[in-house]
Amino acid sequence: MIHSNRLEQEISRISLFADINTSDRIVSLGSGIALSEVFLAKNFVPNGFVTCVDISPEMNKFAKKIQTTAGVENMKILTKSAATTGLPTDSQNKVIIGLIGHQEPMHLIPVLNESLRLLKKSPTSKLIFTFGLNPGKDSFKICKLLSERGFHIEELQPYYALFEGPQLFMLIASFKSNLWKKTKLVLISILQQFY
Ligand SMILES: C[S@@+](CC[C@H](N)C(=O)[O-])C[C@H]1O[C@@H](n2cnc3c(N)ncnc32)[C@H](O)[C@@H]1O
Repeated sequence: MIHSNRLEQEISRISLFADINTSDRIVSLGSGIALSEVFLAKNFVPNGFVTCVDISPEMNKFAKKIQTTAGVENMKILTKSAATTGLPTDSQNKVIIGLIGHQEPMHLIPVLNESLRLLKKSPTSKLIFTFGLNPGKDSFKICKLLSERGFHIEELQPYYALFEGPQLFMLIASFKSNLWKKTKLVLISILQQFY
């Protein structure tokens, strides 16, 4: 059963935590029927673009119907693996990983590597990761995998999905770019001169 006001609430929370900008380019890996993505494209990134990637042609057929019904044009759907999207390097402001069904964090390694490749190496780039794994051990493993790839974990929040089911989590991570590290050092040295 789908709760429509929950959809709005959840996308609003994601948008707030991940600092989504109206002109962002967003890729969603494991987009399923792409209901959230259609809503996101229409209401949150009207000047941006959402690319949905799902390995299942059946899911994508359903997603295309939802997109057409909603009249959303700033979105495309690709039938590809989340680990090999074929999208250009450094082309996305936000990457959403919605492969909620994956039970073993190690299976996510190729998808995390692809996410890292796709994200622009900028402090405003974010990885948004929704998952339903064991919140203790598994989320620790995921945080470790992200940290090893240069991501900084910003938020770990409950995620109230659109369908009834087990408790899910939403993790927001940013890319620790060298440029940002350098900028922080410069800012700190400037502040030190005044205090
Ligand atoms: C739980 S559903 C998606 C849910 C949707 N993202 C949401 O949050 O409502 C997981 C989706 O991941 C897709 N999927 C599973 N493995 C994948 C892979 N390796 N590459 C791309 N999509 C994959 C499945 O086809 C399925 O549509």
